[in-house]
Amino acid sequence: MKLTIIGTGYVGLVTGACFAEVGHQVICVDSDTAKVKLLQDGGIPIYEPGLDELVAKNVAASRLSFTSSTAEAVARSDVIFIGVPTPPLPDGSVDLSFIEKVAREIAAAMTSYKIVVDKSTVPVRTGNKVAETIKRYCKAQVDFDVVSNPEFLREGFAVEDLMKPDRIVIGVRSQRPVPAMKEIFAPFDAPVIVTDISSAELIKHASNSFLALKISYINAISAICEATGANVQEVANGMGMDKRIGRRFLDASLGFGGSCFPKDLSAFIKISEQVGYDFGLLKEVQRINAQQMDRFVKKIIETLWVLKDKKIGVLGLAFKQNTDDVRMSPAIELCQRLQKEGALLRVHDPQAMEKARPLLQGVTYVADMNEVAEGCDALVIATEWEAFKKLDLERVRKVMTHPILLDGRNLFDVAEMERLGFIYKSIGR
Ligand code: UGA
Repeated sequence: MKLTIIGTGYVGLVTGACFAEVGHQVICVDSDTAKVKLLQDGGIPIYEPGLDELVAKNVAASRLSFTSSTAEAVARSDVIFIGVPTPPLPDGSVDLSFIEKVAREIAAAMTSYKIVVDKSTVPVRTGNKVAETIKRYCKAQVDFDVVSNPEFLREGFAVEDLMKPDRIVIGVRSQRPVPAMKEIFAPFDAPVIVTDISSAELIKHASNSFLALKISYINAISAICEATGANVQEVANGMGMDKRIGRRFLDASLGFGGSCFPKDLSAFIKISEQVGYDFGLLKEVQRINAQQMDRFVKKIIETLWVLKDKKIGVLGLAFKQNTDDVRMSPAIELCQRLQKEGALLRVHDPQAMEKARPLLQGVTYVADMNEVAEGCDALVIATEWEAFKKLDLERVRKVMTHPILLDGRNLFDVAEMERLGFIYKSIGR
């Protein structure tokens, strides 16, 4: 099918590349002309495993192209996906101005029936607003349908998640766009749920909030484990074997971050408030998440006593593994908290150092993970990169002033670390 994707961020670009991969004809649009030029020249603005090969392959096959002209893309497509940012506002609600602007641009360019699909994460009832806007600004007065099709990909695993989705959610106001939507997703071989637009929008917010709740739940359990000598990983393994619970998203950590969970939680709490429901449960999820970071910082201070002028190595800056994204990264927040206490930081991340630089100044960026610990009073693990498990621990121990390792992601085995001579502290173990 002929598709347009507006917005070439984590969702838009990966969606465009995957749609092209299964045989659709895809035009990706972005208002950032520098980004479009970069993509046209074969560059990729984000780090996402497998994405560069996928884009190159589909551009070469003439199934994927890039433009900054919404009008041109709309004219050449049957279905237009909106994948633009919906950033948080200071009061916790969502800035929908990019969505509104794109809706107007699509409306202005439409001269025949189009299906306009919202893929950005939006508050419930946004679809109706998009439909009203298109109707108001479409001079040609042509028919159209608005569809909600939330995206569930995780950064760092985006291609995998998109190619093998657990489910496809299609929210519609009429049955007319359903066959086309089903055709688009047929190659992905996933169960399809067709529902009303509000339910589709809610499925997204409810899912992200539930996953965040799961993480806060295990983080709360980690505090109990620390107080009782139990091991949170054993508890999570035991809980996870119950199919009703499941093991995924039960990894205790220094808290969740990123551009989705924190924002979506605030937005969902806000929307609930607007419709007259006080979602206290989700406020508690936020509170536990903030507390988890506080508890970890406290653990570092209790171990090192005064942080002023202490040299601390930090492994990880991205908000999670496999990405260069540092938005709302717990690792960056941790670095800033340690800096505030007067610590001197040596930091490393396999992919996120460039994006971290504007947010984190006055630290030493170290290219080799095995050199971060040099001369340090403690080494901290802040992101769950698999690569950190291959750290040369013998070497690290020798170059530190004290072999203290504080692991905010439970990457290492407690007994093994003690055998290697480390003072090793992790989360809930
Ligand atoms: C999340 C959802 O998982 C996706 O399904 C959704 O599509 C996406 O938001 C979105 O709304 O766009 P993402 O933010 O990319 O995906 O990353 P996650 O893998 O969910 O991780 C979020 C945070 O939780 C990270 O900081 C991660 O380190 C942390 N986390 C995750 C834990 O602390 N423990 C866990 O067990 C899992």
